[in-house]
Amino acid sequence: MPNDEEEQDRLAFMHHLFKLMLGGELFRAPIGQGQQPERILDVGTGTGVWALEMAEDFPNSEIVGTDLSPIQPNWAPPNCTFMIDDAESDWAFSKDEAFDYIHARVMGGGIGDWQRFLEQTYEHVKPGGWVEMQEYEAWIHSDDGTHEQATVIMEWQQKIDEASRKFGKKMNVAAQLKGWMEQVGFINVQDDTYKAPVGSWPKSPRLKEIGRVSKVTVWEAIEPYTLALFTRVLGYSAEEARDYVEKVREELLRSSYHLYVLFHFVYGQKPLEG
Ligand SMILES: C[S@@+](CC[C@H](N)C(=O)[O-])C[C@H]1O[C@@H](n2cnc3c(N)ncnc32)[C@H](O)[C@@H]1O
Repeated sequence: MPNDEEEQDRLAFMHHLFKLMLGGELFRAPIGQGQQPERILDVGTGTGVWALEMAEDFPNSEIVGTDLSPIQPNWAPPNCTFMIDDAESDWAFSKDEAFDYIHARVMGGGIGDWQRFLEQTYEHVKPGGWVEMQEYEAWIHSDDGTHEQATVIMEWQQKIDEASRKFGKKMNVAAQLKGWMEQVGFINVQDDTYKAPVGSWPKSPRLKEIGRVSKVTVWEAIEPYTLALFTRVLGYSAEEARDYVEKVREELLRSSYHLYVLFHFVYGQKPLEG
């Protein structure tokens, strides 16, 4: 995936969307109730916007954001630091640097071995601490069957899913995260799932706003994911992939279908004896 300015704008929209889904909150795990977390980790932090906002909300906590790509701002409040670290290799932290809370958002498509990844979150969280994965399903639904008329988008999502599997870094992991976290040993695992409408079709003003933002977010995601996966994995030329992007975007713009995607906020706790 690119890490240029356009991609960073896309991540800013996506951040806004995740917060809208949670009524302005940054997480679902029961942290900060009573004792404040000392150390918080954001894996695959991207532009670092989530980590920076957590640093503001938890001024007495230390927030660390890691990523492969150095696109975080040079300036950060003193309780927020960023470092380059590959989430798929052994993490850079020692045992006595454990975290109270570990967060990762939209890592689907970036991780090959989810079991290993979740095992590392388990290793690096303190007993009694929480780990939270925030992911959306790259899969459209509707409750009235209208999604079946969105034939180009349906075909596109199938191809993206197939290409990401072939590439070895599956995109659609959201619905499996709860089971995987339980297998690794987390307890009290919750999967809070929300419908995000795509487009301004809902009647409720809150859902309408979510729908508008999510439509822009989907529109912006179509190009980078298609160009990367279709050319590298499915054998499309750059021109063919670009034509495909136009076709999918066209259908998204003109569709009046009642589409939604599912957002999963999956969080679990490391047992005190673990
Ligand atoms: C879709 S972006 C999400 C960014 C951020 N979590 C957010 O929600 O705004 C995925 C991020 O994961 C990073 N990433 C992908 N694979 C990674 C890996 N193996 N180790 C660390 N970061 C990784 C990418 O560089 C990118 O910044």
